[in-house]
Parts: sequence; C-alpha cells; structure tokens
Amino acid sequence: MKVLLINGSPHEKKCTYTALQSAQKGLEANGVAAEFFWIGTEPIKPCVACGACDTTQRCAFGADDGINTLIEKLQEVDGVIVASPVYYAGINGSLKSVLDRAWFAASSTYAFKPAASIVSARRGGTTVSLDQINKYFLVSQMPVVSSLYWPMVHGQTAEQVLQDTEGVQVAYQLGANMAWLLKSIQAGKQAGIVPVPLENRAWTNFIR
Ligand SMILES: Cc1cc2nc3c(=O)[nH]c(=O)nc-3n(C[C@H](O)[C@H](O)[C@H](O)COP(=O)(O)O)c2cc1C
Repeated sequence: MKVLLINGSPHEKKCTYTALQSAQKGLEANGVAAEFFWIGTEPIKPCVACGACDTTQRCAFGADDGINTLIEKLQEVDGVIVASPVYYAGINGSLKSVLDRAWFAASSTYAFKPAASIVSARRGGTTVSLDQINKYFLVSQMPVVSSLYWPMVHGQTAEQVLQDTEGVQVAYQLGANMAWLLKSIQAGKQAGIVPVPLENRAWTNFIR
C-alpha cells in the first residue's frame, strides 16, 4: 500500500515538507509506503474550463507541466495527503491550480481513496486552508482522515516546525491513522465488502 504526499509549497524541503515527513513516519511505522510529489516552482496554469478532460480524464495542459503525471499517480496510490503553506489565509495559488486541474479532470477515479490535509503557517489562516483542501476530498467520495487535532504546524523554517512538537505529533498520528484506515479497507475488500453502488447523479443548477 502506498500514499502520495503532495507538497504544495514552492520550497521543496522546508516547513510543509517537514510536516509531511512526520506523516510519512506515521505511515511507514505502520507498514504503509509513502511517495513525495513536489509541485515545484515553475508557473502552473489554472484550469481554463476548456472541457477537454470530460472525455479524456486528462488535462489539456497536463503533458507540459506534470499534472497528468500527478493524475496517474493519484490513480495508482491507495491514499493521498495534500499539504500546503498558508498564503493570505488560504492555500498556495499554485497548489490551487494543481488541485483544480487534477480533480476536475479525474476525481471520479479517486473515489474511496482515503485523503488528508496538512497546512503550515507562521501564525494564522490554518483552519480555512485545511477546509479549502478538504473540499476537494468531500466532493469526490474520498474518506477524510483525521488526527488528534486539526493537522497544522507553525513556523517559517524547518527547525521552527520541529519545535512545534504538538503539530509534528498530530501529523505523525495522521499518517498512522491513514495506515489504519487503509488496512481496514484492505481487510474489508478481502472479506467481500465493496463500495456501495453509486447513485446516478442528479445534475441540477437550481433552475428546476
Ligand atoms: C505569500 C505568502 C503569504 C503568507 N501568508 C501567511 C498567512 O496568511 N498566515 C501565516 O501564518 N503565514 C503566512 N505565510 C508564511 C508561510 O505560510 C509559512 O512560513 C509556511 O510555514 C511556509 O511553508 P514552506 O516553508 O513549506 O514554504 C505566508 C508566506 C508567503 C510567502
């Protein structure tokens, strides 16, 4: 079993990464592998609602900037943790573009994979940012994993994040809890429990 750890910071190995490392430890201590995916520093185009993904389940720009690679990884792994630095009390803009495109193109194929969020802030805007990430999961039938507290760390350097012992512990427990849920789902599958049939979605725009 493997979980994808998406680092939504332009810093490959700073605060957000340090929080994800703690979740990685919680996963690995409980027998689940982890793979990092860093969104990088190159500009990432936003979703332009071209609709090409309706039929392809791939983003029209995704071959150029790695979003289609991310979509394929999301389809392969058993779970995902998305982590972001807090920017003006929300998630990093580049990460927003990544999530909009990867979810709009293929979120139906991520259904029933456990997911979790972590945010890193100097001081404020954490719960709004967690809520923002969780929205992608909650609209996609992805069970959201929780921890001892809302998964947030505080700091401007990796060293400061490590001083946030509660935040680091919460991230560790998040990884451990996700491992438990993944094993429970695997045991359920072996016992013949499969997701219930999906409703044929009523797609209305509040006009009828
Ligand atoms: C553009 C920008 C906006 C930020 N806005 C906030 C904010 O609203 N609240 C906050 O606590 N920290 C804010 N910060 C600080 C970062 O969220 C914080 O240092 C974070 O831990 C950095 O993570 P990283 O090292 O992984 O990039 C901001 C930083 C930047 C660059």
